Amino acid sequence: MTNAELLSEAKKARERAYVPYSHHSVGAALMTKSGKIYHGCNIENAAYGPTNCAERTAFFRAVYDGEREFEKIAIAGGMEGTDGNDLCAPCGVCRQVMMEFCNPETFKIVLADGEDRQSEYTLKELLPLGFGPDNLGK
Ligand code: THU
Repeated sequence: MTNAELLSEAKKARERAYVPYSHHSVGAALMTKSGKIYHGCNIENAAYGPTNCAERTAFFRAVYDGEREFEKIAIAGGMEGTDGNDLCAPCGVCRQVMMEFCNPETFKIVLADGEDRQSEYTLKELLPLGFGPDNLGK
């Protein structure tokens, strides 16, 4: 699947966002190395802290399904009512979750660039010198 197609899957996932507090809805589409797509949305909470980002929802669904090998993730976010083409880079916690399951040199993060195009980054570009399983000999 192309980056443009994966980003349009992220926009579809964004429609499921539960965002009564921030009104900032995010969708993610995570592609496994075998080509399977897992969707995720952000799910907020009245206590704020338990809020789960779209990216982690996608990862946790995939990992629950037994997936461990990931190729790329696309993320579409913005205030409710916008088209999902605004830049929405993953938060630090989500970058760390990616670090757990992905090779930072090869895993790709696809983001909207504010127009109707996509930019692609490696996890290493967005999380330089990341701490991961390698640090614990895993
Ligand atoms: N959020 C995500 O789901 N992913 C991101 O990449 C950035 C932030 C969510 C968390 C919260 O529900 C809302 O966006 C505002 O922070």
